[in-house]
Amino acid sequence: MRRYAFLIIPLCVGTLTAAEPEKAKNPAIGNPEAIEAGKKLFGAGCAGCHGSAGEGGRGPKLRNRAVWHSLDDEGMFKTIQKGVPGADMPASTQPDEKIWQLVAFVRSINAPAMEQNVPGAPAAGESLFWGKAGCSNCHAIRGKGGVLGPDLSNIGALRPMEQIREDIVSPNADGFEAYRRVTATGRDGRKVEGVLRNRTNYSLQIQDIKGNIHLVSTAGLREIALEKASPMPKDYASRLSKDELRDMIAFLARQSMRPPEEKK
Ligand code: HEC
Ligand code: HEC
Repeated sequence: MRRYAFLIIPLCVGTLTAAEPEKAKNPAIGNPEAIEAGKKLFGAGCAGCHGSAGEGGRGPKLRNRAVWHSLDDEGMFKTIQKGVPGADMPASTQPDEKIWQLVAFVRSINAPAMEQNVPGAPAAGESLFWGKAGCSNCHAIRGKGGVLGPDLSNIGALRPMEQIREDIVSPNADGFEAYRRVTATGRDGRKVEGVLRNRTNYSLQIQDIKGNIHLVSTAGLREIALEKASPMPKDYASRLSKDELRDMIAFLARQSMRPPEEKK
């Protein structure tokens, strides 16, 4: 008996540590054309319940999801194909290829941009960023650029491609309080302008365009004018051509503090 148990233990360890072989991904995953096709299918058959950009509604939110209760690609494929019996999620009548396109789209609104196959010319996007488009007036990348908007050095590792696009073309969708523009006017008429970084009952912390932080006591103030909307320009959808926007996203998608994996 003893000898038997002795034999079994190493066997168990062996099977536990042998990592599951990585499954080959379906070719639709990360493929821009499949994602685009999936987006159309999603708009027609799923958006009514899950929101046009996966933001949720009658069905659950499908984007920016940290946890996919163990839904891998195959699992998502099956959920879409078979529906969720008993819940409000209908089975799909689409052929396998189209269901894979849907999986590719749902993945694309969740995977960080740097892990996606983002089309475009990053070098062209880079010169737009530091030049004509004026992004660097407000945004810094690796210590260079402005401070009125968030640092974008890690944006490709943080946000999915679709989210970056949305951030650029419709900045008010979910802006951050911490970047609202503020003008504080003192009783003596002196003005401090910049971005409101912090406020208490007694003081405001305002960062000016050069990056200097001013601690302003509210007792000495005549007026505080806080802008409601995001200071990010609203007209990039028309100011940038379709190609320029694509190149800009390609550039930002590569901004990451972790080095990209070597392509074999
Ligand atoms: C009639 C409304 C409705 C439609 C149409 C619909 N869904 Fe759903 N979907 C739901 C509901 C409700 C759930 C949650 C089911 C549950 O309770 O687990 C769900 C769940 C899901 C899930 C699993 C989410 C999770 O948390 O595990 C995925 C993925 C999904 N839907 C994708 C799609 C796709 C892709 C389409 C279009 C082909 C679609 N759905 C169409 C209502 C809908
Ligand atoms: C006048 C200042 C300003 C300019 C110019 C500007 N932005 Fe922004 N941007 C902001 C602010 C402020 C935010 C913070 C979110 C908000 O308030 O909407 C932001 C948010 C973002 C985000 C989201 C960041 C995150 O962490 O999710 C991205 C991406 C972005 N901007 C890209 C760009 C690009 C690309 C350009 C040039 C085409 C640009 N911005 C030009 C001020 C600016």
